[in-house]
Amino acid sequence: MENMENKDSLLVSVDIGTYQTSVVVAEKTHDGLAVLGIGTAPSQGVRKGLVTNVENAAQGLQQAVAEAEANASCEIHNVFVSLTGGHMEGISSQGVVRVKGGEVSADDVREVVAVARTIALPPECEILHVFPQGFLVDGQERGRDPVGASGVRLETDVHVISVSSTALYALQKCCERAGLYLNGVYYGALAAAEAVLTPEEKELGVVVIDIGAGTTSVAAFCQGVVYYTAVLPVGGENVTNDLAVGLCIPVAEAERLKQQHGCALTSLIAPGEAIEMPRIGERDAAPLPRRKMSEIIEPRIEEIFELVREQLDFGGLSDRLGAGVVLTGGSALLEGVPDLAQRVFRMAARRGAPRCASDVVDPKSQRVPHLISMEGHVDSLAQSPMYAANVGLILCHAQDTLRPPAQVRNGQNWQHMRERVVEWFREFF
Ligand SMILES: Nc1ncnc2c1ncn2[C@@H]1O[C@H](COP(=O)(O)OP(=O)(O)OP(=O)(O)O)[C@@H](O)[C@H]1O
Ligand SMILES: [Mg+2]
Repeated sequence: MENMENKDSLLVSVDIGTYQTSVVVAEKTHDGLAVLGIGTAPSQGVRKGLVTNVENAAQGLQQAVAEAEANASCEIHNVFVSLTGGHMEGISSQGVVRVKGGEVSADDVREVVAVARTIALPPECEILHVFPQGFLVDGQERGRDPVGASGVRLETDVHVISVSSTALYALQKCCERAGLYLNGVYYGALAAAEAVLTPEEKELGVVVIDIGAGTTSVAAFCQGVVYYTAVLPVGGENVTNDLAVGLCIPVAEAERLKQQHGCALTSLIAPGEAIEMPRIGERDAAPLPRRKMSEIIEPRIEEIFELVREQLDFGGLSDRLGAGVVLTGGSALLEGVPDLAQRVFRMAARRGAPRCASDVVDPKSQRVPHLISMEGHVDSLAQSPMYAANVGLILCHAQDTLRPPAQVRNGQNWQHMRERVVEWFREFF
């Protein structure tokens, strides 16, 4: 490829979704991240978030990568990939160890987390992430950093995410076939959360619901840490299928109508509002009341939200989500989705667009890397809820390396902390 630069500072994320494969290229700059280019291609060989045909999925990936390379004028070799699918499971676990030297050391912390992650997994499954939620030393809460506390008994609660080994292997194969090196894998809804939530929202309690085509991925945070994750095998393609069946139209036509005129809340539509349905087969063109469409869409999205709400109720989380619901994924673009979420969850709901520099106001948030506002096409695309997982993956991996020198507080402490962050990051990965 001529005139294409090969930069070390590039961060590339890949989302092989059920509907589309998207690639986002960003570059580290001294004060943030600049999105250089995006490439997309329709996905093939992906069902309910799972790569079922490596060959076909790799083709889509290659196509999306080529487009991103052309847009960003660069060569792509290394990628971070997001993962979702019904095979994923969020599991809460605990660990206890004896503190060896009378004072909790980093080794004790590592050991107690290792104990907590020792769980019986279903066959062919492995651990993708381990998120410690907090530590107790001799029964006393010590928050997220117990190092230095005196005591004899160290306990922790962790949230473990397990995934199918086959799914991971398929992703790796897919990247290999497309000539890419897989740098790391991250759960999609957590990546999306990284792009659309503020640290304050995570402290207050918040749930991210990423509604894709084949899946709905959920991640809830309380007091700044991951408390709950789950993936439901339903999403936008169910809505499209319902429309195709309900209106007796081909799936492709149902998809088009949904994206152009769909609404998830019937009460938002004025009576008499109609759209023109084109001539299909023997049937003449005819006006279609928009309400008729939304009467099909609403129950399906409502059902998805009810399922999520039941799970949150079951986990005792519903009262702990002060910052409400944040919606990402392509299906969050549907008109009325936040209003419907507000009704079902009885809490505030908004769409989550990947944050950009202009959104960052308070000093606490400034430690979080953000997209630099760039003029034009790429920037506005990257700010769609549809690319939240892509952008979030990049932010996850930039997080540690992007802290500007001005924020580096007193040397040694910072270095110590940074090493631990890096270690923990490996642990989570
Ligand atoms: N403007 C729109 N209005 C309504 N729905 C939309 C719109 N644009 C895209 N969608 C829907 O969003 C879905 C695709 O979203 P997304 O790209 O987040 O899914 P995916 O990541 O490919 O799927 P999954 O996460 O389930 O594997 C499709 O079902 C599509 O119909
Ligand atoms: Mg997705």
